[in-house]
Amino acid sequence: MGRAFVYVILGGGVSAGYAALEFARRGGYSRGELCIISEEAVAPYERPALSKGYLLPEGAARLPGFHTCVGANDELLTPKWYKEQGIELILGTKIISADVRRKALVTAVGETISYKTLIIATGARALKLEEFGIQGSDAENICYLRNIHDADKLVNAMKSCSGGNAVVIGGGYIGMECAAALVTNKIRVTMVFPEKHCMARLFTPRIAEYYENYYTLKGVTFVKGTVLTSFEKDATGKVTAVILKDGKRLRADMVVVGIGIRANTSLFEGQLVVSMVNDGIKVNGQMQTSESSVYAVGDVAAFPIKLFDGDVRRLEHVDSARRTARHAVSAILEPAKTRDINYLPFFYSRVFTLSWQFYGDNVGEVVHFGEFTNSSPRFGAYWVNKGRITGAFLEGGSREEYEAISVAVGRKAKVTDMAELGKQGLAFAIQE
Ligand code: FDA
Ligand code: NAD
Repeated sequence: MGRAFVYVILGGGVSAGYAALEFARRGGYSRGELCIISEEAVAPYERPALSKGYLLPEGAARLPGFHTCVGANDELLTPKWYKEQGIELILGTKIISADVRRKALVTAVGETISYKTLIIATGARALKLEEFGIQGSDAENICYLRNIHDADKLVNAMKSCSGGNAVVIGGGYIGMECAAALVTNKIRVTMVFPEKHCMARLFTPRIAEYYENYYTLKGVTFVKGTVLTSFEKDATGKVTAVILKDGKRLRADMVVVGIGIRANTSLFEGQLVVSMVNDGIKVNGQMQTSESSVYAVGDVAAFPIKLFDGDVRRLEHVDSARRTARHAVSAILEPAKTRDINYLPFFYSRVFTLSWQFYGDNVGEVVHFGEFTNSSPRFGAYWVNKGRITGAFLEGGSREEYEAISVAVGRKAKVTDMAELGKQGLAFAIQE
């Protein structure tokens, strides 16, 4: 028993939604030739909402309001839209094996779905504490956050813990955004992470210090440079405390864990070339894998970044998912007209009333600039390597200012005097 499609998008997340819109716009398929297969029960949605609008105590974002592609101010793709476009949504369906030679996928209930062209958009999964040797993270008041199911669990945990204590494990994106959401929901927060400062993969110590001070003023406590070793639980199996390596005990009515992700590549292991450096499915500038009928996009894809001299990177951000998805569809439908992707890495976050953007790569010498104040923060940093801007960060910028730093990075603007760059700050990018 089986079904056959010309185009199969495997995964129903951000990149699947943007790929579908691109297919529809280009009209490169007939009704019934294209499907999206997703383990999730709902049509593709803007995942970033889950750690922001979805967690608000009032006026929270709910589906269908944040289906793709509203995050890029584009059309809202509801299930009705897919129907109208003749794109089949095969939801609540997990693929458990793939055979790229036979061009076939097998679902958990044993159905075979075959394709002529496959787009792998399986994203990533949250790393579990058990993978670091800590047991018991399946308790009902311990929350990870990757999908809407996780987000509902987190919302329910927050509701039953108002005025209580939460411990947030991890000082990365999930940790920072969830800590802010917990505070907004009137829950006291302690953040625990192994590094010297938050957002260690991106922030400089000075930038991190600003956000940590801001969070401290909001009542957040930081426990840095350590990890947890175990949980204390009550008779019902609920966590009541987190025990740290130094023996310290943190009372907890709930726990949020954000300790990184692993790309969902396992279906294709041994079949497609995987990038060893960053654990993603390796693709070329057309988002095409080592098998010509298979493309990979979004969090799962490791692709060459022209701006970094073709260095292959796997990015874990929404803008990359949107753009690589559109690019793959363009390459599939119009290969002759599609040049290799020319992508400028772009990351952002919004917490409390703060909002920052980063472009490029955080390598080289750092120059900070601007006002690191609480009343109206407007500060940032440039990363400079071999006399050229490689990366730029800005908090509190206007649309034009963000655009200016992105252009400076995209053009690898030349820097002759580091001290002068610090003095000029944003003006350097604006004058560029
Ligand atoms: P995505 O994870 O969106 O989708 C993967 C899909 O594949 C899922 O539907 C999954 O169920 C499905 N799937 C996987 N294996 C399968 C199988 N075997 N069978 C069937 N289906 C399968 N980025 C950013 O730049 N700014 C931000 O503010 C945020 N905020 C943010 C918040 C939260 C809570 C998360 C978890 C992530 C972010 N991100 C972000 C990151 C961003 O959301 C992420 O980069 C994109 O969702 C990646 O899109 P993909 O389509 O690659 O994967
Ligand atoms: P992350 O990589 O941003 O941070 C992981 C953090 O886990 C590290 O900073 C570290 O502090 C901590 N950590 C690692 N091992 C640990 C251990 N054994 N014990 C305790 N702490 C440990 O990953 P994340 O915060 O889990 O985010 C998951 C994914 O979601 C990422 O891909 C991220 O890009 C994405 N996301 C992005 C945004 C955004 O771009 N604004 C927002 C939310 C989520």
